Amino acid sequence: MSGKNILSFDSVNLDDEHGELIILDQTQLPGKIEMLHLKDIYTLQVRGAPAIGIAAGFGIYIAAKGIQAEDYGSFLEQFRKAKEYLNSSRPTAVNLSWALNRMERVVTSNSTRSIPEILGLLHDEAVAIKDEDIETCRRIGEYGLTLIHDGDGILTHCNAGHLATSRYGTALAPVHLGRERGMNFRVYCDETRPLLQGARLTCFELLADGVDTTLICDNMASQVMKNGWVNAVFVGCDRVASNGDACNKIGTSGVAVMAKYYGIPFYVLGPTSTIDMSMKTGKDIVIEQRPPEEVTEMWYAQRMAPEGVKVYNPAFDVTEHELIAGIVTEYGIARPPYEESLKEIFRKKA
Ligand code: MRU
Repeated sequence: MSGKNILSFDSVNLDDEHGELIILDQTQLPGKIEMLHLKDIYTLQVRGAPAIGIAAGFGIYIAAKGIQAEDYGSFLEQFRKAKEYLNSSRPTAVNLSWALNRMERVVTSNSTRSIPEILGLLHDEAVAIKDEDIETCRRIGEYGLTLIHDGDGILTHCNAGHLATSRYGTALAPVHLGRERGMNFRVYCDETRPLLQGARLTCFELLADGVDTTLICDNMASQVMKNGWVNAVFVGCDRVASNGDACNKIGTSGVAVMAKYYGIPFYVLGPTSTIDMSMKTGKDIVIEQRPPEEVTEMWYAQRMAPEGVKVYNPAFDVTEHELIAGIVTEYGIARPPYEESLKEIFRKKA
């Protein structure tokens, strides 16, 4: 499989005939391209906020197909149990509960239909979540392209690209869409400790698209900005609060602080499904804590930290809205003050 361009692989897919969720094993990239075929949905081994939403849709559909129920009441009860279980797999990305709630609405608004009919509707809804994501990302790319010029330098953190969505990505959508139109940007990729999504995933997919790509360690971003190489910072998001505070991969808020210092516009790009208007500020967002071994030994030939050392390993951080020049969605670019502009984005959506 490794001869094929990584951009031709789907990060998440459904094999309806065999009742399998198929996901690209991103822990093996870039060395090995391997697809995982999951029948039992124990955990969502998927990353990237939109991809998590797509996997949740397919995952709950597969779980629903396995439900043994005599009547609607029993089906709904078991469906909700499966939903609760999937919803607990990752706490930060709101796309997970967004997709699961969307699937639940299919069940609750069709209570008079037969269970096979409901299953058919659940299948269609899950496929729609994936298909809509492609168009959503393309539109984010269109709006993002209005913020930059051919040849500009873009700094990005983590991976908010093709691999984190169904196509194009969010933060990287302007870059991929620009390539389709013969443009090329110079992209600086933070390696993104501790899981190295920037080095392993972002660099891999950008090189596959012929993008002028430079890998930097996270602690080099300030120097690259000082050199005058960066015209804009583009990052993705896992949950945005109604005041514009944006939660994304750990290290993002530090990049925003540096961008402010150097006078570089810092943009957050994401679909409206990642905006949680029920959350007032970023302080309320639950941050996933990860195992210490990701910091002390992962990727190293031997452990690099003394046994017994305390490790703090949050997977995400929150960038305060004051540091964000704009939030780029599929319905346009929200500008400060975000309380108002994000409401306007949702009015457009409605
Ligand atoms: O822990 P991960 O790899 O799922 O974290 C991913 C990120 O933080 C991405 O930047 C974010 O999900 C945006 S995805 C378009």
